[in-house]
Amino acid sequence: MSNYHIKQFEEYFQVYKKSINQPEQFWEEIAEEHFYWRKKWDKVLSWDFRKPEVKWFEGAQLNITENCLDRHLRTRGEKTAILFEPNNPEEKAEHISYKQLHERVCKFANVLKEKGINKGDRVCIYLPMIPELAVSVLACARIGAIHSVVFAGFSSTALSTRINDCDAKMVITSDGSYRGAKTLDLKGIVDEALENCDGVASVLVAKRINSEVFMKAGRDYWLQPLLDEAYQDCNAEIMNAEDPLFILYTSGSTGMPKGMMHTTAGYMVYTAYTFKNVFDYREDDVYWCTADIGWITGHSYIVYGPLANGATTVMFEGVPSYPDFGRFWEIVEKHKITQFYTAPTAIRALAKQGTEFVDTYDLSSLKVLGTVGEPINEEAWHWYNDNVGKKKSPIVDTWWQTETGGIMITPIPFSTPTKPTYATLPFIGIQPALMDDDGQEIKGNQVDGRLCIKFPWPSIARTIWGNHQRYKDTYFSAFDNMYFTGDGALRDEVGYYRITGRVDDVIIVSGHNLGTAPIEDAINEHQAVAESAIVGFPHDVKGNAMYGYITLKDAGETRDHDNVRKEINQLITDRIGPIAKLDKIQFTDGLPKTRSGKIMRRILRKIACNETDQLGDTSTLLNPEVVQSIIDHKL
Ligand code: PRX
Repeated sequence: MSNYHIKQFEEYFQVYKKSINQPEQFWEEIAEEHFYWRKKWDKVLSWDFRKPEVKWFEGAQLNITENCLDRHLRTRGEKTAILFEPNNPEEKAEHISYKQLHERVCKFANVLKEKGINKGDRVCIYLPMIPELAVSVLACARIGAIHSVVFAGFSSTALSTRINDCDAKMVITSDGSYRGAKTLDLKGIVDEALENCDGVASVLVAKRINSEVFMKAGRDYWLQPLLDEAYQDCNAEIMNAEDPLFILYTSGSTGMPKGMMHTTAGYMVYTAYTFKNVFDYREDDVYWCTADIGWITGHSYIVYGPLANGATTVMFEGVPSYPDFGRFWEIVEKHKITQFYTAPTAIRALAKQGTEFVDTYDLSSLKVLGTVGEPINEEAWHWYNDNVGKKKSPIVDTWWQTETGGIMITPIPFSTPTKPTYATLPFIGIQPALMDDDGQEIKGNQVDGRLCIKFPWPSIARTIWGNHQRYKDTYFSAFDNMYFTGDGALRDEVGYYRITGRVDDVIIVSGHNLGTAPIEDAINEHQAVAESAIVGFPHDVKGNAMYGYITLKDAGETRDHDNVRKEINQLITDRIGPIAKLDKIQFTDGLPKTRSGKIMRRILRKIACNETDQLGDTSTLLNPEVVQSIIDHKL
């Protein structure tokens, strides 16, 4: 029996059981039958969560681009690999066939080599959602360079931090980007970032908006002339299974962003296998994930997973609201999209518009709907199900993380009965556990706890770039011999999982992971600020929004100055990006602290969420009197 495509619920249970009872045999079969290897592995799995160390398919050799491109050329050469839909609906969509994509990747790879990029070098990619983004990612993989894509909404400071952390030798960017009716000066942001990055020797610049940009002689090169000159064949570098494929930064609850490092073989096998099953992917489908390739969702489910299956994957440059809120549905109709994968925040924003837009377009091509990035509330789930799926397309609520590389808890469409707000059951090979505060596993159903994973899966991140100790401390220290996700979850009476949200100081705003510490650091740079604490509070579109409690050095004088609020948000925009701006800023006389001086965020969170009846005993605080004053002045 081939286990590659699961079509029935009973089959899910059978395959799941096999993947748990004989994980090595199970993944070996999948790897053997569905991928192209230069050399097979010596050992399927070795692991030790206490070190921590995980290795899959050790000894194997491959190149992921041969799996995503070359092997499809004979049978799918003319098939569209990437369908590019531009920001402006008047501009023509571009269909890039597998043959054309292969050629573009090879040429780009030759440009990288010519500019001195070798196997193992890091290349930072800071591009909008244009074909060059996917091409440059694959070009790096072609020659064994490690790509680090930085979402092109991050500020120059955030960009330079990431470039320096991984010692990138090159940056790939564009003159600018379109975002709805606006343009962004990406090259200007890169120039500013590079003032603090000595290690970057060259910058390749794609032309997108035809703006005037500064080009530094000897460092900056227009991409197109180099591509025009480049040779169109490029042998794929032969990589070991555990060679790094990419680094992708994600926020932590403290300090620097974490450069999650993913390796080659396991990541490929798991993203391809999940893509096939979670989206019930079939040969003639047109699959669209609305994420940006700057996030893990784009890496795994716009680029690698779909292309490894020979799929047609849509890249959309624009935003859901431009030129109006019907844009997503117009694209679904135009390209006859079969799978549509988006985030709850987008669904909520679109649901706010009522059904006028969604009813204007023919959405009958849709088969499977997906959601990812944060818990989906019941109302949004039903709106999606009723108005987009017309109650006939299953919704796959997929829970996973940058660290997990691929989807971990999810329904399998047309097999797993769905339940609103539930990610339902673990995917094949995934062994979740709910843990209590004493480190004990909570067995049975109708329970809740901290979500951990007991056994390695092929696409788990292998380390934090340059800081293995932090990797260990963050994910493998809270619970013995387990991967700790940082999320809370409950398990219902039939064993379905519902993710309840982060249990650490990470706040998910519009599906973007934001750590509170770097934001507080940015705020504290303001000369008038003495201290600050950020918490999340519910927001009807963004899921969560940021609430900042800030104590000023000279409280009386400046507490009501809107200017200070503006300056603080500007600082956050400069240091991190506009996505991290605070919705509410309350100036306080002090922040509630324990006797050892630790800020009690739990109390601040309750106040921001209007749950002041659940504050508990505050009399043991160092400064109990500030609590009432904060409540009285709540915004
Ligand atoms: O809290 C969970 C939430 O997003 C976090 C991971 O964020 P990131 O690494 O940016 O990856 C997002 C895309 C995979 C998780 O720890 N999250 C993700 N998907 C869901 C979710 N929360 C609830 N339901 C989901 N389906």
